[in-house]
Amino acid sequence: MAAAAHDRLVIAVDGPAAAGKGTLARRLASHLGLAYLDTGRIYRAVARLVLDAGSAPDDEQAAVAAAEALRPQDLERADLRDEATGEAASVVAGIPAVRTALLAFQRRFAEAPPEGAVGAVLDGRDIGTVVCPCATVKLYVTASPEERARRRHKELREAGVESIYSRVLADLIARDERDSGRSVAPLRPAADAVVLDTTSLNAEDAFQEALRHVEVRLRQRS
Ligand code: DC
Repeated sequence: MAAAAHDRLVIAVDGPAAAGKGTLARRLASHLGLAYLDTGRIYRAVARLVLDAGSAPDDEQAAVAAAEALRPQDLERADLRDEATGEAASVVAGIPAVRTALLAFQRRFAEAPPEGAVGAVLDGRDIGTVVCPCATVKLYVTASPEERARRRHKELREAGVESIYSRVLADLIARDERDSGRSVAPLRPAADAVVLDTTSLNAEDAFQEALRHVEVRLRQRS
């Protein structure tokens, strides 16, 4: 059974690309026994469907049709993490009608998390501002563009993908500009978000810091 609204714990984790949101959000979810939704995968899956159909990611009609036709199994695809899909996801995510089509699914996940979980952690760009403005805890995870590019470059190299640091950095900056410059649901911290700058924090320190904020918030609530 879904938890009542007042006991449900919803944690919003927003921030720019490669800031470590996913690792942090997954860890919080597993530690606190909450369901986890990576909302970037939703935009990536829509982008993949558009590209597979031979359409351009800025083709509004194709992107909206893909968003409306999205099935849960599309989120499980193994080819959603590559850079081209991330780029295309950032473009489809700038189309207001695409965002509208994807909103209900994300809200449903937060309001009635699967498998009877007592709450959910959602990570993305607009969780604290648009998808779950009433989230119990809002974290905005960021790091300098250079540090994010260094991490992404290392990750790509370790996965055996050829990567040039300067190119990764330029792509990240372009993606930040697109994600924060769009007219609808731009990337920005919610007014009541805790900003966690992980430039000089490792994953463990970032997790401990985030957990401390969650615990403070839960104490205030009880
Ligand atoms: O977090 P990610 O790299 O997987 O996200 C891919 C793109 O999807 C990102 O550049 C912007 C978009 N996105 C969004 O606009 N809103 C979200 N809640 C999540 C992702």
